[in-house]
Amino acid sequence: MPKSIPTLCGSIMAEPFSLGVRIHTAAYRELGLDYTFVCFGVENPELAVQAIRTLGIRGMSVSMPYKSAVMPFLDELDPAARAIGAVNTIDNRNGRLTGYNTDFIGAVRALQEATDLNGQALAILGAGGAARAIAYGAQQAGAQVTLFNRSTERGRALAMDLGVNFGGSLRDFVATNFAILVNATSVGFRAPDANPLGQTLEPHLLVMDIAFIPVRTKLLQDAEKAGCRTIAGTRMLLHQACKQIELYTERQAPLAVMEKALLDEINRLGRSVGT
Ligand SMILES: NC(=O)c1ccc[n+]([C@@H]2O[C@H](COP(=O)([O-])OP(=O)(O)OC[C@H]3O[C@@H](n4cnc5c(N)ncnc54)[C@H](OP(=O)(O)O)[C@@H]3O)[C@@H](O)[C@H]2O)c1
Repeated sequence: MPKSIPTLCGSIMAEPFSLGVRIHTAAYRELGLDYTFVCFGVENPELAVQAIRTLGIRGMSVSMPYKSAVMPFLDELDPAARAIGAVNTIDNRNGRLTGYNTDFIGAVRALQEATDLNGQALAILGAGGAARAIAYGAQQAGAQVTLFNRSTERGRALAMDLGVNFGGSLRDFVATNFAILVNATSVGFRAPDANPLGQTLEPHLLVMDIAFIPVRTKLLQDAEKAGCRTIAGTRMLLHQACKQIELYTERQAPLAVMEKALLDEINRLGRSVGT
């Protein structure tokens, strides 16, 4: 297998974005590893996967819009990535490329830091790629999952596909029926005044918003005012990156330094875009 000095890891997406670079670089430095991480803005996912093989890139994150597009070009798929239908991580072991989905692991770890999911009624707002990964992971962890989505046909189709409940549009969410609420819509991302729900929440709820810029989204602020416990989307992002570090280095990920790098970078980005 081709090799590089330093060992090269990276991410592919349509437009390069700095968060992954900061988080991974902080982790490799803390672990004392001669690794470097580069974010590539690419146009052709097939050629990008070919480049992993040609250059001997050790691990590659995959972001939108390529999470499904890379799948046919890999040697193997982790069963969870196959079930979710999306790969956000490519692990290159001696030239053999395996696709993983660490988004669902990140979401489940973030939720399990706050509660045991087994047997809990969990509502997910959204039916896109992130909602799909979270619904899969929460169901695997034993939660009773119900999806709500603006486009009801899309929501119903996803719920049927995963074998979870469909609750209707976002307006149909009733707080008293659930212990946990996860916002997996894109509402609130880089939109500090946007809350996907137009209702007051109940204090018994644990609320996670996977939107992570700003870190305290409007939904999380409103949930805190209502007396709810909350989990920021940065926690999911962090834990999915930890799983990548574990795959690429076979070491335990240094969570605290990665979190600091993530929050510092969001702060910097927030200052530059005004969120
Ligand atoms: N924290 C993390 O680690 C993490 C990881 C992955 C993604 N994310 C974030 O999660 C969000 C969703 O990502 P995705 O990949 O699932 O996106 P996606 O596939 O494009 O899905 C977007 C979802 O948001 C809903 N939506 C969009 N605009 C809406 C509006 N105005 N009102 C109500 N619903 C609306 C869509 O509903 P329709 O079906 O009706 O269009 C759909 O359910 C993004 O903000 C992304 O940055 C965070």
